[in-house]
Amino acid sequence: MPHDEIQPVESNAEIGMQPNVAKVHYGTGKKLLAFLMPAWLVQWLTNNRTAVRLRTMWKRWYHRRRSHAEVYGDDYYEMIDATTGRSAAVMARSIVDHLNPKTSVDLGCGTGNLLEQLGNQGVSARGADFAPQALDLCRQRGLDVSRVDFTDPQAIAKPLGQFDLAICMEVAIQLPPVAAKNLIRSLCRHADTVLFSSPPCARDRLPKSPMTASQWIAEFASQDFELDQELSKTFKNEWRERGTAPWFYRKPMVFRSRLANNRNSQAKPGIL
Ligand SMILES: C[S@@+](CC[C@H](N)C(=O)[O-])C[C@H]1O[C@@H](n2cnc3c(N)ncnc32)[C@H](O)[C@@H]1O
Repeated sequence: MPHDEIQPVESNAEIGMQPNVAKVHYGTGKKLLAFLMPAWLVQWLTNNRTAVRLRTMWKRWYHRRRSHAEVYGDDYYEMIDATTGRSAAVMARSIVDHLNPKTSVDLGCGTGNLLEQLGNQGVSARGADFAPQALDLCRQRGLDVSRVDFTDPQAIAKPLGQFDLAICMEVAIQLPPVAAKNLIRSLCRHADTVLFSSPPCARDRLPKSPMTASQWIAEFASQDFELDQELSKTFKNEWRERGTAPWFYRKPMVFRSRLANNRNSQAKPGIL
């Protein structure tokens, strides 16, 4: 997720969003800076690709020198809550329409917007995250969440249960490569269907595993899960048309267990 304060480069028309979705997010210090800056400069910093790239490079240099808690502080989770909050109902609708899960787990659930929307649409949903700020907001929403550190191999090896669907949006990019692979394994142990996204182009504050879609697909394949190309494309189109934040529709991927697929096709001979 491009979790920078100044959000996406695409024009609203290009990404098919409501104008208020792709807007500038500021932390407290930056609000003052934005107040002092002329509007044309704010627009340039927001829309010019070179300016965005330079700012991203500067921020990464800055963030590499800070602790995890400093990089992902309160302002970060406020921003997640706002942006995912504007996207979650659309995402939950597609999930229910096309996958119809009765139960779901969201690993790296952030502030719980998607869990909440799934709950509103009749799905019993659980979440896990490590950030106290995110978990506090989840609990204020009355959500069932656990604190798990995905970089701890023992913690991530213990499934939270068995679910119809495991979700993991924009999380793997924040983990070191070994932990990201453990997370994929864990998702595949939680459910026979996984909804996953972690585009390498995401301008995360501190990307640690900016792997390409083919690399993630290979990781899932090593767990005997294959990409459902058609459904992934349907999610992409629906989310784009219905105006989720762009990082969600850039490359959503639905994976299905080959073993479960085989089991289902054997159980229903004659049905393709
Ligand atoms: C970009 S946010 C995405 C949140 C949510 N999935 C969404 O799309 O709004 C990444 C999430 O991963 C969580 N995360 C990062 N490192 C983690 C770790 N080591 N263990 C558990 N969660 C972690 C963060 O706390 C954050 O909530």
